[in-house]
Amino acid sequence: TADRSLDRDCTTLSRHVLQQLQSFSAEAQDLSALMNRIALAGKLIARHLSRAGLMEGVLGFTGETNVQGESVKKMDVYANDVFIAVFKQSGLVCRLASEEMEKPYYIPENCPIGRYTLLYDPIDGSSNTDINLSLGSIFSIRQQEGEDTDGSAQDLLAPGDKQIAAGYILYGPSTMLVYTIGKGVHSFTLDPSLGEFILTEENIQIPNHGPVYSVNEGNFWQWDESIREYIRYVHRTEGYTARYSGAMVSDIHRILIQGGVFLYPGTVQKPEGKLRLLYETAPLAFVIEQAGGRATTGHENILDVVPTKLHQRTPLIIGSKEDVAKVESFIQNGH
Ligand code: AHG
Ligand code: MN
Ligand code: MN
Ligand code: MN
Repeated sequence: TADRSLDRDCTTLSRHVLQQLQSFSAEAQDLSALMNRIALAGKLIARHLSRAGLMEGVLGFTGETNVQGESVKKMDVYANDVFIAVFKQSGLVCRLASEEMEKPYYIPENCPIGRYTLLYDPIDGSSNTDINLSLGSIFSIRQQEGEDTDGSAQDLLAPGDKQIAAGYILYGPSTMLVYTIGKGVHSFTLDPSLGEFILTEENIQIPNHGPVYSVNEGNFWQWDESIREYIRYVHRTEGYTARYSGAMVSDIHRILIQGGVFLYPGTVQKPEGKLRLLYETAPLAFVIEQAGGRATTGHENILDVVPTKLHQRTPLIIGSKEDVAKVESFIQNGH
């Protein structure tokens, strides 16, 4: 008789994607191959992070400023390059667009056949890099629509429900990969001795309510009064607890498992907030909705937002249904 734990040990990520699609169709094979490449990028980045404190020239800033106006860390550049190198060899991806690149990166040798675009945040939570705290990578895969002959990538200016796969890698005490292809949310843990991501939990369901609220309260006086009112409500109500790590991947992962709400509202100076739609808020919204939660700007579901530019930002309220609805009600009705 087959041992159940052995069965699970054999459920690798690529196997799981094929199982999910219940076919060996061309699309299923593409998706399986794409997820495999994302897993490889995750393994390369995890390896680099685990040794970062032992090597020269790996931590710290590059001295450059990215298109977001942020100081770039060496780790941002390394991880950005890992995804490019990994997908150059995939044959399937013609364009990559990331937080760290002003314009999409084209892989011309893949373009006649490479029908997919990878959108990604190579290192999420960059401020955690030099202090050995949790980090993430976020990914989103879209089908290229039309020809994009002028390299303007206009087809990417489409809502998040065009994503065919999305998820994140969490570099914590262990490395985890969480993904969806629109058939639920599944998590995998990297077994370093096997070099494989092994199934941890299938069809994760986010609780309808949870104790955690996760927000940078340092921005309190920069927010709209409705958000301040919500935070006052949380402060005077029993049963809430604050958790904020500086990496939304880890904060939202906690909420996926234990419930609660993560907020990054707009501020006076930045009404759209900080987080970027195509490779941060939309992929996380896809994951959380697939797990039974919600993601909104406060006025519109994140997956419905149509961007007008590649690096567009949106406010974000994401997590358990009831907790998101509560914040929404403060925004829309003042209570
Ligand atoms: P990134 O490191 O990719 O630029 O993203 C950081 C994001 C997010 O992960 C985190 O929750 C948030 O920015 C932190 O911003 P504040 O320091 O403004 O709270
Ligand atoms: Mn950044
Ligand atoms: Mn980020
Ligand atoms: Mn980043």
